[in-house]
Amino acid sequence: MKIVTTIKEIKAILKQERRGDKTIGLVPTMGCFHEGHLALMRRAKEECDVTVTSIFVNPTQFGPSEDFEAYPRDLKSDSKMAEKVGVDYLFAPSVEEMYPEENLTHVNVEKITDVLCGACRIGHFQGVATVVSKLFNMVNPDFAYFGEKDYQQLMVVKRMAKDLNFDLQVVGVSTVREEDGLAMSSRNRYLSSEERKAALVLSKSLRLASEMVENGEKNPGEIRESMIRLIKKEPLVNLEYLSICDTISLRELTIIKREALIALAARVGKARLIDNILIKGN
Ligand code: PAJ
Repeated sequence: MKIVTTIKEIKAILKQERRGDKTIGLVPTMGCFHEGHLALMRRAKEECDVTVTSIFVNPTQFGPSEDFEAYPRDLKSDSKMAEKVGVDYLFAPSVEEMYPEENLTHVNVEKITDVLCGACRIGHFQGVATVVSKLFNMVNPDFAYFGEKDYQQLMVVKRMAKDLNFDLQVVGVSTVREEDGLAMSSRNRYLSSEERKAALVLSKSLRLASEMVENGEKNPGEIRESMIRLIKKEPLVNLEYLSICDTISLRELTIIKREALIALAARVGKARLIDNILIKGN
């Protein structure tokens, strides 16, 4: 695996690779790898001839009071993990390389960014859409892999790629969880052992919701109430939002018909955690 830090070099290398008619898969990340990230890389490896993983802690998607400075960074351990999975190129540019001067151009996906995390993190998805479109232009992948754990992000990137005619396919990959159900996240390392235990209530509440739907419950109000009752049993968990919404528009549902997304965000100690479950009709 080769580590590349400049845009010029990654473009030159991939131009060469593309000459051999090879397909390129991109996995954009902010590093600090866990099994969730590795699942995306394995999928890319399975489906593409050349796998590129990018690591860039993107300052423009963090709000002023968020954890940009504190965000965990560990290129040494990340590169070992990526190499083991068989990644061909690890693209890890600096902030100066990505943003050599003030960025005057931004990519803004409307409507689906007004809700869920977009409502709590103003400007976040503009930062994500802008950096992802920059990465798409640098790597020019055939396939780009994103986790369903960040479901809204996946939908924003899919819509951006469609609206702006990026010549690639955005692929969603299922959420990877710890054995006890906690969704894997780089931010889990902010949790104390007590907070870690309390945070389990989030995935538990989603499982409860999915059981309720399986048992015929169609009323989002009932599901929401049961989930909140369960989450409130853990005083260390502060729910930011809980939404039972349409899987495409992300708007709240008044009745569950075939499909639904149940998504939540909560603060647990210093960590802001998100999780979701997709209810699929049969
Ligand atoms: P990051 O949080 O590092 O996540 C990188 C990718 O890994 C995202 O597509 C995310 O959805 C996926 N991922 C994280 N945890 C996962 C899990 N438990 N199971 C499956 N996939 C998981 O998301 C970002 O970085 C950034 O916003 C980025 C897209 C790189 C733009 O800066």
